[in-house]
Amino acid sequence: MDASDMGSDLAAVLLTEEQIHTRLDEMAAAIDRDYAGEPILLVGVLKGAVMVMADLSRRLHAPVEMDWMAVSSYGSGTKSSGVVRILKDLDMDTHGRNVLIVEDIIDSGLTLSWLLGNLRSRGAKTVEVATLLRKPGAAKVEVPVRYVGFDIPNDFVVGYGLDYDEGYRTLPFVATLAPSVYGDDG
Ligand code: IMP
Ligand code: MG
Repeated sequence: MDASDMGSDLAAVLLTEEQIHTRLDEMAAAIDRDYAGEPILLVGVLKGAVMVMADLSRRLHAPVEMDWMAVSSYGSGTKSSGVVRILKDLDMDTHGRNVLIVEDIIDSGLTLSWLLGNLRSRGAKTVEVATLLRKPGAAKVEVPVRYVGFDIPNDFVVGYGLDYDEGYRTLPFVATLAPSVYGDDG
């Protein structure tokens, strides 16, 4: 899927495929430096983190294992409340492991803040976070995010795993949506 399949749905490309891949190279290098060959348990948050997980994990030289969680945040509309329900829990034991949470985007930070607390309570040796995107609102919550790809403006974005109503996830880049998609004038 690429921009030519989108008709007039997209407003602008925020991050190109090349920009994303270049940044993932840098993030992977930083992670490899920090973990210095220690094994890492990558924990992806479904579904948005699928693309970041695939592309970041393959750049790492450290021995990695992968696991996934699916969570749903109770809230009204598009705002998350910080009250989180686990839809799919980890398959693996985190005791004594270096857990690295892999996220697509941190918006309010409430989901992540809950996840961090949850994983820390399970006896992991370390728990850190890597996210491709971070919005300004994340600054309000005390969530230590070790690896950030890009700080982006407070616009709704799609592509590279991120969806609007389950669409657009397979775009290889990150883009903003045209207002007509939200049903404002279309
Ligand atoms: P929060 O950090 O608890 O507010 O929630 C973050 C989650 O909201 C992300 O994992 C995404 O699923 C979703 N989200 C936030 N901003 C966007 C966006 O711009 N596009 C698509 N999904 C988003
Ligand atoms: Mg997500």
